Amino acid sequence: MDLAGKIKGSVDLGEYDGVNKVVLAYSGGLDTSVMVKLIKEVLGAEVITLTLDFGRAEYANSDLKGMEKKALAMGAKAHKFFDVREEFFSGYIAKAVKANSLYQGEYPNSTALGRPLIAKYLVAVAEHEGADAVAHGSTGKGNDQVRFDVSVAALNPGLKIIAPVRDWELERDEEIAWAAENGIPVPASSSKPYSVDANMWGRSCECGILEKPFEEVPEDALEWVTPPEKAPDEPMKVKLWFEKGVPSALEFDGVKITGGVNIVGALNDIAGKNGVGIIDHMEDRVVGLKSREVYECPAATVILKAHKDLEKYVLTREENDFKPAVDKLWGECVYRGLWHNPIMKELDAFVDASQEKVSGWVALKLYKGAAQVLARDSPNALYDPNLASYNAGSKFCQKDAQGFIKLYGLNTVMAGKVAEKAKEKAAVIV
Ligand code: ARG
Repeated sequence: MDLAGKIKGSVDLGEYDGVNKVVLAYSGGLDTSVMVKLIKEVLGAEVITLTLDFGRAEYANSDLKGMEKKALAMGAKAHKFFDVREEFFSGYIAKAVKANSLYQGEYPNSTALGRPLIAKYLVAVAEHEGADAVAHGSTGKGNDQVRFDVSVAALNPGLKIIAPVRDWELERDEEIAWAAENGIPVPASSSKPYSVDANMWGRSCECGILEKPFEEVPEDALEWVTPPEKAPDEPMKVKLWFEKGVPSALEFDGVKITGGVNIVGALNDIAGKNGVGIIDHMEDRVVGLKSREVYECPAATVILKAHKDLEKYVLTREENDFKPAVDKLWGECVYRGLWHNPIMKELDAFVDASQEKVSGWVALKLYKGAAQVLARDSPNALYDPNLASYNAGSKFCQKDAQGFIKLYGLNTVMAGKVAEKAKEKAAVIV
């Protein structure tokens, strides 16, 4: 099959005039593997592949080495690789935790958070290599295209953006056939009917049977989380410390570990084994489509739950009431690809100020799918046992409550009286 010829015959390639060098975000999956060769053939341009290590388990070091070989074998001019785990934690995940980021109340934005970091590296490598374009494997239906395109354009509006699956209307079947004909190894994962994206904040799974929201999620769609009914019969207790809103240490099984990347890694493992973190989500995409998404986010689920609990312990009522509105907008902007919108810095300023006090620990029990908070403490707690206690010796003066309630209820009592009068008037008229 002459896929390159077909594209040349059906797509107006004029807009790519002058594109000689392209940096391609390369995951090793079907789409991006096909693209290495296809972009070369269609545009006659050099292709540089870029892979980032986001701490996904599938990317053990040997695989990453293998990816370089594969990319070069398919005709890439060069392959670039960066370990971005620390940067992803400190620059993206830590902010998401501080902002309790959960799109539509449930999705920890794991894929969404990774995209602006990929865009940053695409632009940096393109500038360094003197490339005129960047390319990615997104379709025209999803959110990822929005996140890549907006972020790349915000960082360097001069770069062309090529998304062949979307822009050249590639079809999966023809990609598979063309890959086979051209000796492009189709990754084993392509035989599974799912589209997967993963980084240390979570694993996203869509397509195949998952497109039927009325069908249960089959077990083969899950890789990180043990189904709760198969999880151990003994609960696992963990203790998680936060420093200014960011996870700083984790204790489990008598060991204490530090460092965000280690904590997230360990919690993905421990919570995943205990069935925690499966999220079956009916989601509203940026492009207006509704879709059914399945996420496995064990670490994110535990950390976000603990963080929220600690906030309630140390923030004032007013802060606890107002901050969710900021958090919601923060999460929506990340989901919608607006990482570089100025509002993000402005929201971060508020969030950071609120997190000055969010230090302390939260203990949780992980058991057959549930993450239950057991206890918490903080030097900044606004809780005073001497005030709250019902036992003798409390410094809270109960008598003060009488006067307080009179003033506090004034409006409500007044409204009741007015309603009563209106009723009397009505009775007279009748
Ligand atoms: N719906 C999710 C999001 O928009 C997940 C996207 C997953 N991407 C993928 N290529 N499977 O963040």
